[in-house]
Amino acid sequence: MKVEDIKKVAVIGAGIMGSGIAQVVAQIGIEVGLRDIDMKFVERGIGGIKKTLERLVSKGKLPEDAANAILSRIKGTTDVKEAASDADLVIEAVIENMDVKKQVFKELDEICPEHTILASNTSSLSITEMAAATNRPEKVVGMHFFNPVPVMRLVEIVRGLTTSDETVEVARAFAEKLGKTPVVCKDSPGFIANRIALPSLNEAMFVLMEGTATEEDIDTAMKLGYNWPMGPLELADMVGLDTILSVFEVFQREFGDPKYRPCPLLKQLVRAGHYGRKTGKGFYDYK
Ligand code: CAA
Ligand code: NAD
Repeated sequence: MKVEDIKKVAVIGAGIMGSGIAQVVAQIGIEVGLRDIDMKFVERGIGGIKKTLERLVSKGKLPEDAANAILSRIKGTTDVKEAASDADLVIEAVIENMDVKKQVFKELDEICPEHTILASNTSSLSITEMAAATNRPEKVVGMHFFNPVPVMRLVEIVRGLTTSDETVEVARAFAEKLGKTPVVCKDSPGFIANRIALPSLNEAMFVLMEGTATEEDIDTAMKLGYNWPMGPLELADMVGLDTILSVFEVFQREFGDPKYRPCPLLKQLVRAGHYGRKTGKGFYDYK
């Protein structure tokens, strides 16, 4: 298969990342099936895309008819067959949980045509393990986008132990077609960027928990002292505290190194249902 053969893409999961991925795919003229488990999640995802496109239209960066055309290419559904049975590429962006992802890959393997490439947007989990849940392990690959997807330029292409060269090449070329810069890496927890950057978010949470400084001062310190575009705590709220905790649990389990111990304050916030921006409360309030 070649990148030009990708005429329809399915995105599984219409949350923060799935909706952003659906948007950038539709922006290059490709039809998208966007699937979530409940219509309310599908509608929330498409609502977010609408808002982003309206902002571009109001800034004069996108003609209104082009925004409507992008939206008309995205078909929201709760039916995985409707979204993926005629897709050439599927990008999975469900919650960061291996059991859920393996179930999704198994189902996709059963309903998708033989040539279809199955990609995961996982932040940390093993592509090789997801591939082993299918009968096409050579066609399973990581395509790790960054948040917010329409703005961030990187996509990590993750080669599982069984991923073929052809699959890596198609995923790499597709990321380029989306206007992103791909980097290729092996299947290792957190790949490149999250392995390096996320421990500093965890450290910021320890600094807060120990009472060294307030949320605002921690974020100001990193914005002004290190020129970060956002402070670590506001960034954690944007990513989703549930996702960050899942990543740390993967790091701790896979590397077996105590340096990856998730901050107890992070665990408490997640237990309280305070996931950050998406629930209206995290380190900051968003209501
Ligand atoms: N969707 C689409 N476009 C968006 C957007 C969104 N959610 N948020 C901002 N933008 C656009 C704005 O419209 C604006 O566009 P123009 O310049 O064309 O007008 C541009 O981005 C800049 O936005 P703002 O001026 O509002 O704000 P800003 O300059 O502070 O930038 C930001 C916002 C791009 C989010 C910036 O703060 C930033 O880069 N933050 C860090 C993001 C980051 O680190 N992401 C990685 C998270 S970790 C991850 O993704 C991996 C994982 O597995 C967990
Ligand atoms: P999210 O919580 O915003 O969205 C996840 C969505 O998946 C929810 O709408 C949920 O209803 C849906 N879902 C759960 N099970 C499903 C299933 N079986 N079929 C279809 N949909 C299902 O999460 P997110 O932030 O979009 O993260 C999605 C994936 O992307 C995770 O693997 C995460 O690690 C990764 N990721 C997240 C970020 C980030 O900054 N948030 C960045 C890069 C990668």
